[in-house]
Amino acid sequence: MSEELENLEKQIEEKITNANTLDDLNSIRVEVFGKKGLITNHLKSLTELPENERKEKGKKINDVKNKINTLLQQKNKNLSDSEVSQKLQKERVDITLSTRPYEEGKLNPITQTIAEITTIFQKMGFETALGPDIEDDYHNFTALNIPPEHPARQLHDTFYLKGKNNKLLRTHTSPVQIRTLEKKKPPLKIIAPGRTYRADSDMTHTPMFHQVEGLCLDKDINMSHLKGCIMDFCREFFEIDDLPVRFRPSFFPFTEPSAEIDIGCFKDKKQITIGNGGSWLEIMGCGMVHNKVLKYCKVDTSKYQGFAFGLGVERLAMLKYGISDLRSFFDSDIKWLNNFGFSIFENIEKI
Ligand code: PHE
Repeated sequence: MSEELENLEKQIEEKITNANTLDDLNSIRVEVFGKKGLITNHLKSLTELPENERKEKGKKINDVKNKINTLLQQKNKNLSDSEVSQKLQKERVDITLSTRPYEEGKLNPITQTIAEITTIFQKMGFETALGPDIEDDYHNFTALNIPPEHPARQLHDTFYLKGKNNKLLRTHTSPVQIRTLEKKKPPLKIIAPGRTYRADSDMTHTPMFHQVEGLCLDKDINMSHLKGCIMDFCREFFEIDDLPVRFRPSFFPFTEPSAEIDIGCFKDKKQITIGNGGSWLEIMGCGMVHNKVLKYCKVDTSKYQGFAFGLGVERLAMLKYGISDLRSFFDSDIKWLNNFGFSIFENIEKI
């Protein structure tokens, strides 16, 4: 009996030594310790033995069992180690290979300029608001005190959408003033950057362009707040502390009084330099929000009033970054973008 057990042990040991894969090892485990396994059968046969022999035999079988278990464990470790190293060998990465050519994408100066403008106004406490590019007549015109037949509608060269009951591409970002006031009550301070559209295309106009709208409503807001806010903005945006800023009376249906804002510059035949140069350049429109607009938006005009402004992004970008042709912004010329574009990594926190 004892000899039989020794032979069995040897036989199993040999099998384990010869196993080449983890799968082989698993089959051996089942063969030995499974329900009808070689060792399991021996353990079962113990019940047939008389009491005195059972103890001694049981101990022997257990010793063999432990030995085999240890062997299985060791072999398991060896095999897994070698499988891992084989895999590593196979999947080795050749770090001496050169990398794929990599080109960093650039931000269009329009994106950069919008980020700069909104950052400055955000520091002054303005929140960003957005509105749809496809507008209706009410938000783009009527609620801004531009009723049907008003001559100002002609000035806007509007793109109307066919058959879309008076839907149009917004001609300015001012409708965001209305949409914001429909959702929020004053006091509020918002800026609204976005695309705008007019059927106009020549050296100085593209049918799609960008504006940033501003709106500030509160108790006791007056024109001096507007002046201070815009002067601070212009000086910070152009990074010129004593930049001359001038307010020239003008007209917009949705502001009263209205003004156009000019900044100082120096003009010679070839180029324009921003600063104290004796000439003026118009950069945006503004004014105190018209009572009629506030009434359309159900603002209590006995309590609240405020100012609004709207600026053209392309114009500011051209002046700040010395870009001479408006159309180049939208040509998708990669060489131009590499030259005038901005690294995304410098701007991550601004966007
Ligand atoms: N919406 C005007 C335009 O497109 C600009 C403007 C905005 C003027 C707000 C005054 C107040 O020209």
